[in-house]
Amino acid sequence: MQIKPFRIEHYFGKYEFTAKFLLSSSDAESRTIQELLDLEPGSHDRLLSLWCGYTESPGAPELREAIAAIYKQLHSNDILVVASAEEGIFVLYHALAGPGDHIIVETPCYESALEVARSTGAQISEWPRSCENGWAHDFAALEKLLQLNTKIIYINTPHNPTGLLMPANTFKQVLSLASSRGIIVFSDEVYREIEHDPAMRLPAACDGYEHAVSLGSMSKTYGLPGLRLGWLASRDPEIIRRCLEFRYYTTICNSAPSEFLTALALRHRQVLAQRNLEIVYRNLPLLDAFFRQRPHLFEWSKPNASTIGFTRFKPERDVFSFCEEVVRDSGVLLLPGAVYDQPRHIRFGYGRKNMPEALAHFAAYLDAHS
Ligand SMILES: Cc1ncc(COP(=O)(O)O)c(C=O)c1O
Repeated sequence: MQIKPFRIEHYFGKYEFTAKFLLSSSDAESRTIQELLDLEPGSHDRLLSLWCGYTESPGAPELREAIAAIYKQLHSNDILVVASAEEGIFVLYHALAGPGDHIIVETPCYESALEVARSTGAQISEWPRSCENGWAHDFAALEKLLQLNTKIIYINTPHNPTGLLMPANTFKQVLSLASSRGIIVFSDEVYREIEHDPAMRLPAACDGYEHAVSLGSMSKTYGLPGLRLGWLASRDPEIIRRCLEFRYYTTICNSAPSEFLTALALRHRQVLAQRNLEIVYRNLPLLDAFFRQRPHLFEWSKPNASTIGFTRFKPERDVFSFCEEVVRDSGVLLLPGAVYDQPRHIRFGYGRKNMPEALAHFAAYLDAHS
């Protein structure tokens, strides 16, 4: 298997645990295990008496039930719990695609959605979006990419890095196009349930189409990336079966304490998501005002979901080296768009409690260097 270096993770690996202020994190504010246990009486003792043997490969029954409850039409058997959405991406592509297949990937995207697809040996086409037209989805362009051997269409809504939702009509069109050709839709929904206006939430793809797979994660909306738990959800039993067969070669089964804590967290997921949404409601107006006060420097399509947004940096200078200078000189971590093949952009994150402080430090840096 050939695979390129993962530029996003490489950049974070370099700075995330040394930079003082994280202004580009993709996840919402986290919590301690104590805070999770406080959500449910008796859970502390249950955690301490947890057996640390191997767990069931598809995921613990109580956890699969808690995940199935997120969806309208799914049962616990329709869920495969994996050790993070990242493992879900790896398992799904390698279980279902290979040389001779064609995969369409909406871009820009979280890099593994594209590079892991490529690593299967399948032929890859990008379904590109661009800032010039406000990151609109060109559905006609997607139709033109279809081939007789198109096996999977990967979409991501709410979207990393723009923080934008796919319009409901486009989402429906993608599902019905795929349905008319029996193509699998791999729908990355790791930011679902943190739409800024919950009324704008899209249905989960796995509810809308039987050959769709919804990818979920504890990392983003619920702010628990340290649990390393994610899932694949689909009403197509053959997809779940093949992914399970493949994951015997990756992690076999999940961490018992993580499964316990994830099931507990998901039973209270509205509490977790609501606290994080409130952080977004406080932070996003500050970030938006910051950009509007500096129209000569920044331009963005204001996000309507998630904890991230993607901003064009207007000055004619190398944005990658600018971001490296900022973190080195001010301790504020930004993510340069070059890691998404968007070299004029910067990704910002607004899901952390201390974002106002991080933003103030970035503002001071800009003022000192203007
Ligand atoms: C769109 C998207 N999908 C998947 C992942 C992987 O998430 P996890 O932390 O669950 O592996 C990320 C992480 O940044 C992401 O942004």
